Amino acid sequence: MTIRHTKSTGPNSDINLLDNHDRRITYLRLSITDRCNLRCRYCRPEEGVPFIPHEEILRFEELERLVSIFSALGINKVRLTGGEPFSRRGFLPFLTRLRKVEGIQYLHITTNGVKTKRYLDELATIGLNGINLSLDTLDHKRFWKITRRDYLKAVLQTMHGVLARNIPLKINSVVLKDTSDDEIIQLAGLARDFPITLRFIERMPFSGTMRAEKLENGNLSKRLKRIFPAIEECTAALPTTARIFSLPEYKGTIGIIQGYSRLFCSTCNKVRITPTGMLKTCLYDNGVLDLKKMLRTGSDDKEIESAILSCLQKRCINGHEAELLAKRSAEPSMASIGG
Ligand code: GTP
Ligand code: 5AD
Ligand code: SF4
Repeated sequence: MTIRHTKSTGPNSDINLLDNHDRRITYLRLSITDRCNLRCRYCRPEEGVPFIPHEEILRFEELERLVSIFSALGINKVRLTGGEPFSRRGFLPFLTRLRKVEGIQYLHITTNGVKTKRYLDELATIGLNGINLSLDTLDHKRFWKITRRDYLKAVLQTMHGVLARNIPLKINSVVLKDTSDDEIIQLAGLARDFPITLRFIERMPFSGTMRAEKLENGNLSKRLKRIFPAIEECTAALPTTARIFSLPEYKGTIGIIQGYSRLFCSTCNKVRITPTGMLKTCLYDNGVLDLKKMLRTGSDDKEIESAILSCLQKRCINGHEAELLAKRSAEPSMASIGG
C-alpha cells in the first residue's frame, strides 16, 4: 500500500502518497481546456491544434470529483492550467467550488493574462494562492512574433492588477533561440521593480509540430551568472521545479526552470490530468490512465483510487525514461498537456 500515515497535523499533511521511487506526491495540475487565444510558437502551430469535441473534455463535475479523490489520497495543491483556463466558460465558478474541496490548501492558476484582468477581484475574494503569468517579452513586435497575437497591453494590465491585489505572482518567460541578453535584462527588471518571481524557462519539445525538433537551450544558470554577476542562488525548500536567485536591490527574485534538462525529476511531486482526462505521471509520458473512461463507465471512487495508486507504483524515474517509453515521432502540443 502506498499511503502511509505520519504524526503531522493539518489537512492532508498526515498523508504520504508515495510513488515507487519514494517521492511524495502532493501537487495536481489540471488542464481544463486545450483552447487558447494566443498561438505561442513553442506551444502550438499557427492554425491551432486539432479540435477536441466538447464531449471529450472532462466536465467540471467530473473534474471536481477527481480533485476530491486526489485530495483524499494526499494531494494538497491544485494548479489549473490550459491552454488558457479563462478560455473555458464557467472557469471562475469552478474555481470557487474547488476552493471548498476539503484538503486542498493551495489553489493556483497559470494563465496567459489576456482575459484575466476582469476576473481579478473575484480571484482575490476566493483567496487564490497564486497566479503564474506567461510573458516572454516586453516588446510589442516581439510579443506578436512569439504569440502571433497583439495582446501585450492586456497582459501587462493583468500583471499590474495582480500586484495591486497582492496576489502572489510569478512570471514565466520561455527562453527562445533568439532571446537576447537585453531581453533577459528587461524581463528581470520586473523582479527588480516588483515583488515577483521572474522565471526563465528552458524550451521543451511540445510545440505541436509534425517533426521532433532538436532543442539547444544552452546553460541558463551560466548565462544568468554572466549577465548578472551579483546573483546568488537561494536555498530552496524541496521539492521545486525552479532554481531561485536573488540580486541586491531587487524587490523580487529571478529563477530558472530546467524542464528540458530535467534536473528536478528526483524530487518531482506532481501528477497531471489532461483536458480529455488522461492521467500523466510525468510531463514527458503519453498518459498512463484513462480517467474519463473510468468516470463514464461507472467506476466508484475506490476503484479510481486504486487505479491511480497502481500507476504511481510504475512511475518513471525521470522525464528521460518517460520520453523514451513514449516513443513519439511528432511533438505533442503543450496545449493538450497543460504545462
Ligand atoms: P509552481 O507551483 O509555481 O512551482 O508552478 P509550476 O512551475 O509547477 O507551474 P507553471 O504552470 O508555472 O509551469 C512553469 C513551467 O514549468 C512550464 O514550462 C512547465 O511546463 C514547467 N514544468 C512544470 N512542472 C514540470 C515538470 O514536472 N517537469 C518539467 N520538465 N517541466 C515542468
Ligand atoms: N517549453 C517550455 N515551456 C512551455 N510553455 C508552453 N510551451 C512550452 C514549451 N514548449 C509554458 C508556458 C506557460 C507554462 C504553462 O508552460 O509559457 O507559462
Ligand atoms: Fe496559449 Fe500558453 Fe500555449 Fe501560449 S503557451 S499558446 S499562452 S497555451
